[in-house]
Amino acid sequence: MSTVVETDVLIVGSGPAGAEVALALSTYGVPHIVVTRYAHLADTPRAHITNQRTMEVLRDLGVEQEVVARATPQHLMGNTTFCTSLAGEELGRVRSWGTDPLSRAEHELASPTRMCDMPQHLMEPVLVDAAVARGTRLRYETEYLSHTQDADGVTATVRDRLRGDTYEIRAWYLIGADGGRSKVAEDAGLPMGGRMGVAGSINIVFEADLTRYTAHRPSTLYWVLAPGATVGGIGAGLVRCVRPWNEWLIVWGYDVSAGAPDLTTEYAESIVRKLVGDDEIPVRITSSSAWTVNERYAETYASGRVFCAGDAVHRHPPSNGLGSNTSIQDAHNLAWKLKLVLDGTAQPRLLDSYSAERAPVGRQVVTRANRSIRETAPVFEALDGLASQTPEQLWANIDARKDATEAAEKQRAALREAIAFKVYEFDAHGVDLNQRYTSGAIVPDGTPDPGFARDPELYHQPSSRPGARLPHAWITSGSRTLSTLDTVGRGRFTLLTGIGGEAWLRAAERQDVEIATVVIGPGQEYEDPYGDWARLREIPDAGALLVRPDGFVAFRHPDAARTNAGELLTDALRRILGHA
Ligand code: FDA
Repeated sequence: MSTVVETDVLIVGSGPAGAEVALALSTYGVPHIVVTRYAHLADTPRAHITNQRTMEVLRDLGVEQEVVARATPQHLMGNTTFCTSLAGEELGRVRSWGTDPLSRAEHELASPTRMCDMPQHLMEPVLVDAAVARGTRLRYETEYLSHTQDADGVTATVRDRLRGDTYEIRAWYLIGADGGRSKVAEDAGLPMGGRMGVAGSINIVFEADLTRYTAHRPSTLYWVLAPGATVGGIGAGLVRCVRPWNEWLIVWGYDVSAGAPDLTTEYAESIVRKLVGDDEIPVRITSSSAWTVNERYAETYASGRVFCAGDAVHRHPPSNGLGSNTSIQDAHNLAWKLKLVLDGTAQPRLLDSYSAERAPVGRQVVTRANRSIRETAPVFEALDGLASQTPEQLWANIDARKDATEAAEKQRAALREAIAFKVYEFDAHGVDLNQRYTSGAIVPDGTPDPGFARDPELYHQPSSRPGARLPHAWITSGSRTLSTLDTVGRGRFTLLTGIGGEAWLRAAERQDVEIATVVIGPGQEYEDPYGDWARLREIPDAGALLVRPDGFVAFRHPDAARTNAGELLTDALRRILGHA
């Protein structure tokens, strides 16, 4: 072993977290290498629900439209259906993922982007292709083995799986984006809370034309209450649409204490037949694999020069569709901080804010996803389905809800209520968008935390308070309509002000760090014809918002600060960048 390859950042893994951090670093011009174990990217659909915050990140990095072009659009995602099988009896539906009329309005008001369904095997190539086109050096079939770190950097040992030899890569920083069995996180000794292996699940990927059972109630998810569906798994049997309406993925549970069943094609086909409920339709099984439901999160995401992101630090079931979204958003939080530290603009202390900001989000996501599994039980309970010993008994209970009796009326109400409650899994807009960061990279403005006016898991609440994501409003520039979010990002800070905020503009120009400036008001470069921005910004015209490269408000001031804007902004930036 003689070669030592040098780079600024070494990224282990090319999943959503590793690919996004590579895309961001290549966009910002930071030299880096990605090593990834296999000769290919994700070869199964895996994660798919892509929320608005992720779409905003992808918009910032210039790949939103490519994802939209390949994804299943939001309007085909929404009729989350509960049934006895696709061909069988339907028990109810939840309007999901922003397709309920009220929720749709909330989504439209919250963001310039739309949710979509982008299976992971389609998402990863978009991210990786763009990253490589912008300068990422990617090494397939290269396995991370170990690392050591010292005051000046990290040395990782990797193995070229094609040639069989090992070599070293020396970098300023190492990012472990190596998934749910992260060796980087383990080697870095990141403390983990929660449990692994809570329940057993099987994914079965298959092709079948199921148009006749699905096109009239288009959805990403069809939940099947069949005998055995509460054993292990994610709450019930699941038939998930990969591509409408002929590529599918089934999730089915197994008793984790008994071990995974033998995943023969016959076994996989028997599960498909059970959940689809049609023995005639042609089915082609393409793959099956076993996995476990985990409830585990790292208490901190970094150790010295090693940072972990994605499943490496939060491991949870697919409920709420948060896995890849949270991974991409971790990466977006970390990338600009690394850039500013590596180019000398910020002190390494800025990197402490990564863990401070993202670890609470990871913990919340792990807790929410696992809770969503448990919240499926009331759907079965409403049908006395948890106690059913035989299929006949379950079918009889399901049939009994059609009776003209008081008991049946109660059962119908309980079923409706239990299904409607699943909105916490299928339309939790607040979980997607309500992050509020507290860290050294946020300067509090002294205003009291207003809390949330409505359920913070279900409803998005915009805020310009430091630590919140910049609110979206449609503004104009000449004949162009754009989002306030389109004025920020691209690896740099942005200062937003309005008429009377000249002192802020002068202050921004005098800083050592690049700050884009945006003035919104009549006769300015940007105008607010609908008055939406004025309603959302929570400061008067001449006040200022300093927005970080990741779109989060870092500093807010309520007035023109005519005499001391320079001092205030310099002081804020010194704190944010770790100089003070
Ligand atoms: P991810 O696991 O995607 O990527 C890890 C990367 O690290 C891979 O490129 C891997 O090859 C590489 N790697 C690992 N060890 C390495 C080493 N030692 N050296 C070099 N490279 C190494 N989520 C969901 O919401 N719905 C779903 O249905 C599913 N289904 C699903 C099925 C299966 C089989 C899996 C494995 C996962 C899911 N998930 C899922 C979870 C979802 O895929 C997950 O949350 C994201 O992929 C996490 O992205 P990461 O980039 O963090 O890890």
